[in-house]
Amino acid sequence: MPIKEQVLESLEAVPVPATKRSVVGMNLVRDITISGKKVNIVLASTGLMAEVQDWVRDRVKGVVGQLTETGEVEVEYRDAKAKDLNEVARVIAVMSGKGGVGKSLVSSLVAIALRRKGYEVGILDADITGASIPRMFNLGSPPSGNESGILPVFSKSGIEVMSINLLLPNEDDAVIWRGPLIGKAITQFWEEVLWGKLDYLVVDLPPGTADAPLTVMQNLPISGIVVVTTPQDLATMVVKKAVNMAQHMKKPIIGVVENMSYLYVPEIDKKIELFGKSRAEEIARNIGAPLLGRLPIDPEIAKLCDGGNIEEYESGPYRSFAEKLIDIIPKGK
Ligand SMILES: Nc1ncnc2c1ncn2[C@@H]1O[C@H](COP(=O)(O)OP(=O)(O)O)[C@@H](O)[C@H]1O
Ligand SMILES: [Mg+2]
Repeated sequence: MPIKEQVLESLEAVPVPATKRSVVGMNLVRDITISGKKVNIVLASTGLMAEVQDWVRDRVKGVVGQLTETGEVEVEYRDAKAKDLNEVARVIAVMSGKGGVGKSLVSSLVAIALRRKGYEVGILDADITGASIPRMFNLGSPPSGNESGILPVFSKSGIEVMSINLLLPNEDDAVIWRGPLIGKAITQFWEEVLWGKLDYLVVDLPPGTADAPLTVMQNLPISGIVVVTTPQDLATMVVKKAVNMAQHMKKPIIGVVENMSYLYVPEIDKKIELFGKSRAEEIARNIGAPLLGRLPIDPEIAKLCDGGNIEEYESGPYRSFAEKLIDIIPKGK
């Protein structure tokens, strides 16, 4: 007689089409009952179109049928809401006072660092009117799904992504919604996307302290915030407001990243502080959170972002940022 653990393990080999994960990773396995040689498996149909359900059923029958002492294999689908299936251990929000400081870049780099460590990671692009995550990862195909949920789109390295840009006919289409509608879209990304089992969901927050970031703070169970700033006075001033909001909402700040901190010129081996002297240490001290790193203005970053290849990025400053982040990021449930 097969044992439940064996059956579950075999299901790890059944991929969910259009994702880079298994039915177990997407948390679609609802129930396994074994009586004698007969195995009965209940799967959630969330996000799966009818043809996909048939395909998955055949695969499940195939792998489970191969286990020793297995007779008949029955696969039954049950409807479930994405939010009831999602098991996201940690939500990490990336925040800045103003736009254009590299918040989306840092969101991506945080997700990439975690993914390189072997974690299951997703990015929720909550910057509805300035969505830019799909471009950085070269994602264009629309997500698939059904009435009970939609599937995220997967990056090359297997990072799950959901962004309004994936749902628009053209990525350049402007989203001219007002606050409540934007808030609703973000909540839907959280509740109606099948994220499955994730170690980390990185949320690229809208900039500033208006309605949209507030909605995310209120509606998503944020475990920690990464604050992005640049050495400009204006950025320093507005980041304080953003931090005040986070502290008011009692959301812990994991650390501060100073982006576009300096330009390194290899020919003269010099760091030039283009936007003025670094304020990173001072800001971190004021907030009472560690400085995770200072990222330089790097033409390679701009090139990789524009070409959709940010997952290939590697540099000394990034490596030390990533190590520090991994070291102090909250872990487990
Ligand atoms: N450190 C950097 N070096 C070079 N280019 C950068 C750097 N940080 C951001 N950029 C570029 O600046 C632009 C804005 O960055 P983005 O992360 O989209 O900002 P935000 O999300 O804060 O509006 C992007 O096109 C990105 O390629
Ligand atoms: Mg952005």
